[in-house]
Amino acid sequence: MAALQGVLEAAPAYFLTVTGLPPGDAEAQSTFTALPPDKTYSDKFVWGLYAGESMIGCADVIRGYPVREKAVLGLLLLAEPWQHRGLGSAFAALIEQVIGAWPEIERLRLGVAVSNTAALAFWRKLGYRETGEMKPPQPGIVAELQVFEKPLRRSPTR
Ligand SMILES: CC(C)(COP(=O)(O)OP(=O)(O)OC[C@H]1O[C@@H](n2cnc3c(N)ncnc32)[C@H](O)[C@@H]1OP(=O)(O)O)[C@@H](O)C(=O)NCCC(=O)NCCS
Repeated sequence: MAALQGVLEAAPAYFLTVTGLPPGDAEAQSTFTALPPDKTYSDKFVWGLYAGESMIGCADVIRGYPVREKAVLGLLLLAEPWQHRGLGSAFAALIEQVIGAWPEIERLRLGVAVSNTAALAFWRKLGYRETGEMKPPQPGIVAELQVFEKPLRRSPTR
């Protein structure tokens, strides 16, 4: 929890862009506990990206939301000193590889605040495409969310 809180606090620009505020004191706790309606914690995954012993990034994923065949990437975030070095792309590729082992999942889905122009460019570069759905601003988020999806590519089985 402390390591995750440290990572989130090391990405203040993201929180200012998306919430209008610096990261809160209980940001890690919110990341661990946030769960869509009708889902259980057995479908929630919070992963860390490590440089040696240090957590430098995090991702949270919900399996089977909003439908059984989709997984939602809630937040993928790197501490600012580690951004723009190709690590976000590498982390996303690892996550896609892990989700690729979940047999029922066909598509990855995520929502990006339209104020987060860097993230819009990042996900487009990784092959995610706008579905045309827009979500109104969630509580605490300043902008509406643009929904992106990508078909999950599985490596051929031997
Ligand atoms: C978004 C984030 C995960 C991307 O990780 P990263 O390691 O910084 O990105 P990469 O270095 O792997 O960049 C991959 C590509 O994304 C695009 N990209 C990344 N940051 C960008 C920016 N600020 N502006 C425009 N394009 C950008 C580029 O096309 C880049 O490819 P290039 O370097 O060959 O031009 C990271 O910057 C981050 O943690 N940001 C704060 C949290 C956040 O916004 N998360 C997404 C929430 S939906």
